[in-house]
Amino acid sequence: MANRLPLIAGNWKMHMTGAEAAQAAKRLKELVAGVAGVEVMIAPPFTALYQTAAELSGSAIALGAQNMHWESKGAFTGEIAPAMLKAAGCRYVIIGHSERRQLFGETDQNINKKIRAAIAAGLQPVFCIGETESERESGQTFSVLDKQTRKGLEGFVLQDLKSLVVAYEPVWAIGTGKTATKEQAQEVHAHVRRQLAERVDPDFARHLRILYGGSVKPSNIRELMAMPDVDGALVGGASLDPQTFSQLVHYQS
Ligand code: PGA
Repeated sequence: MANRLPLIAGNWKMHMTGAEAAQAAKRLKELVAGVAGVEVMIAPPFTALYQTAAELSGSAIALGAQNMHWESKGAFTGEIAPAMLKAAGCRYVIIGHSERRQLFGETDQNINKKIRAAIAAGLQPVFCIGETESERESGQTFSVLDKQTRKGLEGFVLQDLKSLVVAYEPVWAIGTGKTATKEQAQEVHAHVRRQLAERVDPDFARHLRILYGGSVKPSNIRELMAMPDVDGALVGGASLDPQTFSQLVHYQS
Protein backbone atom coordinates (compact mmCIF):
# COMPACT_ATOMS: atom_id res chain seq x y z
CA MET A 1 0.00 0.00 0.00
CA ALA A 2 1.51 3.30 -1.06
CA ASN A 3 1.92 6.02 1.47
CA ARG A 4 -0.31 8.80 0.14
CA LEU A 5 -0.64 11.87 2.34
CA PRO A 6 -4.36 12.75 2.43
CA LEU A 7 -5.22 16.19 1.06
CA ILE A 8 -8.28 18.10 2.26
CA ALA A 9 -8.80 21.01 -0.13
CA GLY A 10 -11.29 23.85 0.05
CA ASN A 11 -12.54 25.41 -3.17
CA TRP A 12 -14.01 28.76 -2.20
CA LYS A 13 -15.33 29.43 -5.72
CA MET A 14 -16.66 32.99 -6.18
CA HIS A 15 -16.97 33.73 -2.47
CA MET A 16 -15.15 36.16 -0.18
CA THR A 17 -13.38 39.46 -0.64
CA GLY A 18 -9.71 39.70 0.25
CA ALA A 19 -10.51 40.83 3.79
CA GLU A 20 -13.10 38.09 4.29
CA ALA A 21 -10.75 35.45 2.95
CA ALA A 22 -7.92 36.62 5.20
CA GLN A 23 -10.21 36.45 8.20
CA ALA A 24 -11.39 32.94 7.30
CA ALA A 25 -7.78 31.83 6.72
CA LYS A 26 -6.73 33.22 10.09
CA ARG A 27 -9.50 31.34 11.85
CA LEU A 28 -8.75 28.14 9.95
CA LYS A 29 -5.09 28.41 10.83
CA GLU A 30 -6.00 28.43 14.53
CA LEU A 31 -8.49 25.60 14.15
CA VAL A 32 -6.16 23.22 12.32
CA ALA A 33 -2.90 24.12 14.07
CA GLY A 34 -1.04 20.98 14.99
CA VAL A 35 -3.06 18.61 12.85
CA ALA A 36 -0.80 15.85 11.57
CA GLY A 37 -0.97 13.26 8.83
CA VAL A 38 -3.07 15.38 6.48
CA GLU A 39 -2.33 18.23 4.12
CA VAL A 40 -4.72 21.19 3.95
CA MET A 41 -5.24 23.52 1.00
CA ILE A 42 -7.57 26.43 0.37
CA ALA A 43 -8.30 27.99 -3.00
CA PRO A 44 -9.75 31.52 -2.66
CA PRO A 45 -10.64 33.75 -5.63
CA PHE A 46 -7.71 35.42 -7.45
CA THR A 47 -8.33 38.80 -5.82
CA ALA A 48 -7.93 37.27 -2.35
CA LEU A 49 -4.74 35.29 -3.01
CA TYR A 50 -2.19 37.79 -1.71
CA GLN A 51 -4.09 38.63 1.46
CA THR A 52 -4.75 34.95 2.15
CA ALA A 53 -1.08 34.06 1.51
CA ALA A 54 0.01 36.71 4.00
CA GLU A 55 -2.34 35.27 6.60
CA LEU A 56 -1.15 31.72 5.95
CA SER A 57 2.54 32.49 6.13
CA GLY A 58 4.19 30.32 8.75
CA SER A 59 1.35 27.83 8.66
CA ALA A 60 1.27 24.45 6.93
CA ILE A 61 -1.92 25.31 5.03
CA ALA A 62 -1.22 25.43 1.31
CA LEU A 63 -2.66 28.01 -1.03
CA GLY A 64 -4.29 27.10 -4.32
CA ALA A 65 -5.93 28.92 -7.22
CA GLN A 66 -9.14 27.87 -8.95
CA ASN A 67 -8.08 28.29 -12.57
CA MET A 68 -5.41 29.86 -14.78
CA HIS A 69 -4.51 30.45 -18.41
CA TRP A 70 -1.90 28.32 -20.16
CA GLU A 71 0.04 31.18 -21.73
CA SER A 72 2.76 32.85 -19.72
CA LYS A 73 1.84 36.42 -20.73
CA GLY A 74 0.23 38.47 -23.46
CA ALA A 75 -2.97 40.00 -24.72
CA PHE A 76 -5.45 37.75 -22.89
CA THR A 77 -7.80 40.17 -21.21
CA GLY A 78 -9.17 38.84 -17.96
CA GLU A 79 -6.80 35.91 -17.69
CA ILE A 80 -4.18 35.00 -15.08
CA ALA A 81 -0.81 33.39 -15.88
CA PRO A 82 0.78 30.49 -13.99
CA ALA A 83 3.75 32.56 -12.81
CA MET A 84 1.35 35.12 -11.34
CA LEU A 85 -0.18 32.41 -9.17
CA LYS A 86 3.22 31.15 -8.16
CA ALA A 87 4.29 34.69 -7.20
CA ALA A 88 1.09 35.09 -5.17
CA GLY A 89 2.13 32.09 -3.08
CA CYS A 90 0.14 29.27 -4.68
CA ARG A 91 1.34 25.70 -4.47
CA TYR A 92 -1.72 24.21 -6.18
CA VAL A 93 -4.07 25.13 -8.99
CA ILE A 94 -7.44 23.49 -9.65
CA ILE A 95 -7.79 22.70 -13.34
CA GLY A 96 -10.81 21.54 -15.31
CA HIS A 97 -13.42 21.95 -12.59
CA SER A 98 -16.80 20.93 -13.97
CA GLU A 99 -18.10 24.49 -13.50
CA ARG A 100 -15.30 25.67 -15.80
CA ARG A 101 -16.13 22.94 -18.28
CA GLN A 102 -19.90 23.45 -18.20
CA LEU A 103 -20.31 27.19 -17.68
CA PHE A 104 -17.19 28.52 -19.39
CA GLY A 105 -16.70 26.06 -22.22
CA GLU A 106 -13.41 24.55 -21.13
CA THR A 107 -12.41 21.65 -23.29
CA ASP A 108 -10.17 18.66 -22.66
CA GLN A 109 -7.64 20.33 -24.99
CA ASN A 110 -7.59 23.56 -22.95
CA ILE A 111 -7.27 21.54 -19.78
CA ASN A 112 -4.34 19.60 -21.22
CA LYS A 113 -2.54 22.88 -21.99
CA LYS A 114 -3.29 24.21 -18.53
CA ILE A 115 -1.95 21.12 -16.79
CA ARG A 116 1.22 21.37 -18.87
CA ALA A 117 1.65 25.07 -18.07
CA ALA A 118 0.97 24.55 -14.37
CA ILE A 119 3.64 21.86 -14.10
CA ALA A 120 6.11 24.00 -16.04
CA ALA A 121 5.52 26.83 -13.57
CA GLY A 122 6.04 24.57 -10.57
CA LEU A 123 2.37 24.48 -9.55
CA GLN A 124 0.68 21.23 -8.56
CA PRO A 125 -2.39 20.71 -10.73
CA VAL A 126 -5.55 19.38 -9.13
CA PHE A 127 -7.04 17.90 -12.27
CA CYS A 128 -10.84 17.52 -12.02
CA ILE A 129 -12.83 14.86 -13.80
CA GLY A 130 -16.43 13.75 -13.43
CA GLU A 131 -19.53 12.49 -15.19
CA THR A 132 -22.96 14.09 -15.36
CA GLU A 133 -26.08 12.43 -14.02
CA SER A 134 -27.30 11.40 -17.46
CA GLU A 135 -23.89 9.96 -18.33
CA ARG A 136 -23.99 7.88 -15.15
CA GLU A 137 -27.56 6.78 -15.79
CA SER A 138 -26.71 5.66 -19.30
CA GLY A 139 -23.77 3.60 -18.09
CA GLN A 140 -21.07 5.87 -19.50
CA THR A 141 -19.30 6.83 -16.28
CA PHE A 142 -16.07 4.95 -16.94
CA SER A 143 -15.88 5.86 -20.62
CA VAL A 144 -16.39 9.57 -19.84
CA LEU A 145 -13.72 9.54 -17.15
CA ASP A 146 -11.33 7.57 -19.36
CA LYS A 147 -11.74 10.14 -22.12
CA GLN A 148 -11.20 13.05 -19.72
CA THR A 149 -8.04 11.53 -18.26
CA ARG A 150 -6.72 10.38 -21.65
CA LYS A 151 -7.17 13.78 -23.29
CA GLY A 152 -6.26 15.80 -20.23
CA LEU A 153 -2.97 13.95 -19.84
CA GLU A 154 -2.22 13.32 -23.52
CA GLY A 155 1.42 13.78 -24.46
CA PHE A 156 2.77 13.80 -20.92
CA VAL A 157 5.67 11.67 -19.84
CA LEU A 158 5.89 10.11 -16.44
CA GLN A 159 8.42 12.66 -15.22
CA ASP A 160 5.92 15.49 -15.87
CA LEU A 161 3.21 13.99 -13.73
CA LYS A 162 4.96 13.55 -10.41
CA SER A 163 3.11 16.44 -8.75
CA LEU A 164 -0.33 15.71 -10.24
CA VAL A 165 -3.40 15.33 -8.05
CA VAL A 166 -6.67 14.05 -9.54
CA ALA A 167 -10.09 15.01 -8.18
CA TYR A 168 -13.08 12.86 -9.03
CA GLU A 169 -16.14 15.09 -8.79
CA PRO A 170 -19.35 13.60 -10.14
CA VAL A 171 -21.21 16.62 -11.57
CA TRP A 172 -24.51 15.40 -10.08
CA ALA A 173 -22.99 15.55 -6.58
CA ILE A 174 -21.58 19.09 -6.70
CA GLY A 175 -23.53 21.53 -4.57
CA THR A 176 -26.59 19.29 -4.67
CA GLY A 177 -26.34 17.63 -1.28
CA LYS A 178 -26.24 14.29 -3.15
CA THR A 179 -22.95 12.64 -2.30
CA ALA A 180 -21.67 9.61 -4.14
CA THR A 181 -21.83 6.63 -1.83
CA LYS A 182 -18.53 5.46 -0.49
CA GLU A 183 -18.85 2.41 -2.75
CA GLN A 184 -19.46 4.58 -5.84
CA ALA A 185 -16.45 6.75 -5.00
CA GLN A 186 -14.22 3.77 -4.33
CA GLU A 187 -15.28 2.03 -7.54
CA VAL A 188 -14.40 5.07 -9.65
CA HIS A 189 -11.16 5.87 -7.83
CA ALA A 190 -9.96 2.28 -8.20
CA HIS A 191 -10.88 2.35 -11.87
CA VAL A 192 -9.04 5.63 -12.53
CA ARG A 193 -5.98 4.35 -10.69
CA ARG A 194 -6.03 1.10 -12.67
CA GLN A 195 -6.35 2.96 -15.97
CA LEU A 196 -3.46 5.26 -15.14
CA ALA A 197 -1.36 2.31 -14.00
CA GLU A 198 -1.86 0.79 -17.43
CA ARG A 199 -1.53 3.97 -19.46
CA VAL A 200 1.16 5.82 -17.52
CA ASP A 201 2.97 3.70 -14.96
CA PRO A 202 1.99 1.39 -12.09
CA ASP A 203 4.21 3.11 -9.56
CA PHE A 204 2.94 6.55 -10.54
CA ALA A 205 -0.65 5.33 -10.15
CA ARG A 206 0.10 3.79 -6.77
CA HIS A 207 1.41 7.12 -5.46
CA LEU A 208 -1.18 9.34 -7.15
CA ARG A 209 -3.59 11.11 -4.81
CA ILE A 210 -7.19 10.89 -5.99
CA LEU A 211 -9.55 13.23 -4.13
CA TYR A 212 -13.30 12.89 -4.02
CA GLY A 213 -15.46 15.99 -4.40
CA GLY A 214 -19.20 16.61 -4.36
CA SER A 215 -21.20 17.49 -1.23
CA VAL A 216 -18.47 16.38 1.17
CA LYS A 217 -19.45 17.37 4.71
CA PRO A 218 -18.64 16.45 8.30
CA SER A 219 -21.31 13.75 8.30
CA ASN A 220 -19.89 11.81 5.34
CA ILE A 221 -16.17 12.49 5.20
CA ARG A 222 -15.12 9.71 7.52
CA GLU A 223 -16.73 6.92 5.53
CA LEU A 224 -15.40 8.33 2.24
CA MET A 225 -11.87 8.66 3.61
CA ALA A 226 -12.02 5.08 4.89
CA MET A 227 -12.10 3.83 1.30
CA PRO A 228 -8.70 2.51 0.19
CA ASP A 229 -8.51 4.61 -3.00
CA VAL A 230 -9.92 7.88 -1.62
CA ASP A 231 -6.95 10.07 -0.72
CA GLY A 232 -8.66 13.30 0.20
CA ALA A 233 -11.52 15.63 -0.56
CA LEU A 234 -12.15 18.68 -2.70
CA VAL A 235 -14.78 20.62 -0.82
CA GLY A 236 -16.92 23.53 -1.98
CA GLY A 237 -19.82 24.60 0.23
CA ALA A 238 -18.55 23.03 3.45
CA SER A 239 -15.16 24.74 3.10
CA LEU A 240 -16.53 28.28 3.45
CA ASP A 241 -17.06 28.14 7.19
CA PRO A 242 -13.69 27.60 8.94
CA GLN A 243 -15.32 25.69 11.78
CA THR A 244 -16.99 23.21 9.44
CA PHE A 245 -13.94 22.89 7.22
CA SER A 246 -11.74 22.24 10.24
CA GLN A 247 -14.03 19.35 11.17
CA LEU A 248 -13.29 17.88 7.76
CA VAL A 249 -9.57 18.33 8.28
CA HIS A 250 -9.90 16.57 11.64
CA TYR A 251 -11.82 13.66 10.13
CA GLN A 252 -9.45 11.22 11.79
CA SER A 253 -10.25 12.32 15.33
P1 PGA B 1 -19.52 21.07 -3.09
O1 PGA B 1 -18.50 21.46 -4.27
O2 PGA B 1 -18.67 20.52 -1.95
O3 PGA B 1 -20.21 22.34 -2.72
O4 PGA B 1 -20.43 20.03 -3.63
C1 PGA B 1 -17.39 20.67 -4.57
C2 PGA B 1 -16.60 21.29 -5.69
O5 PGA B 1 -17.19 21.83 -6.62
O6 PGA B 1 -15.35 21.26 -5.68
